[in-house]
Amino acid sequence: MNLVFLGPPGSGKGTQAVKLAQKLGLKHLSTGDVLRDAVKRGSELGKQAEGYMKRGELVPDGLIIGLIESMIKAGELNGGFILDGFPRTVPQALGLKEMLYNNDINLDTAILFAVDDEEIVKRLSGRWYCPKCNTGYNYPAQMPGVEGRCDKDNAQLRRRPDDDEAVVRNRLEVYKKQTKPIEDFYRGESILVEIKAQKTPDEVFEAVLKEVSSKT
Ligand code: AP5
Repeated sequence: MNLVFLGPPGSGKGTQAVKLAQKLGLKHLSTGDVLRDAVKRGSELGKQAEGYMKRGELVPDGLIIGLIESMIKAGELNGGFILDGFPRTVPQALGLKEMLYNNDINLDTAILFAVDDEEIVKRLSGRWYCPKCNTGYNYPAQMPGVEGRCDKDNAQLRRRPDDDEAVVRNRLEVYKKQTKPIEDFYRGESILVEIKAQKTPDEVFEAVLKEVSSKT
């Protein structure tokens, strides 16, 4: 099964992708995670991406398309995948279509997670993570036992720099201008499925499973 997860920042793509990848044994590829790791390591890709990410803008298409292409060529997506956060522009969607076609891979479904802007601002304002083990927390729904400390290793929790409200609002605008048009692209390909994602994570997961099961 080959899937694209689409939706505004904070709509729950990552949360659902982790669970579904585990359940179905799929490769979960989050371009945001790959870029954050590159920034942390100070690699060439990270240096080029960092400024865009801090401002809540998209990194240039060429960088991202090249990244995905190298993974497809290396066979890293063989055996089924969830692309989380890619594609994000029409040129990226067209690039993906061509790369998959050239490698005889079929895209089964693009799942769109629909959530209101104010719910997104609330979710991302409450997001914290552990820099050591990457465990996520969300205030007030998922608080650590000790304020500001990870339950697993007691490390000081951090926030993503792009989760500040002003940057989140910019990310929402960027989504509307640059990413929303690919909803229509996948609608035109007859593979877009919309899930109302302003529910509990378990309820959303149930809806995702239902959609995915109907395709097998
Ligand atoms: P990326 O990391 O992809 O960020 P994003 O799409 O903005 O997504 P998020 O990770 O913020 O949200 P999500 O939808 O995964 O939600 P999550 O499950 O985490 O990209 C970051 C940056 O990298 C971009 O701005 C850009 O600069 C660059 N980039 C990445 N890909 C690119 C590309 N293809 N092209 C160009 N640039 C690119 O949930 C969010 C929070 O809500 C969590 O705390 C979670 O616990 C909570 N939550 C989840 N589900 C629920 C629920 N149902 N109810 C309540 N809370 C929930």
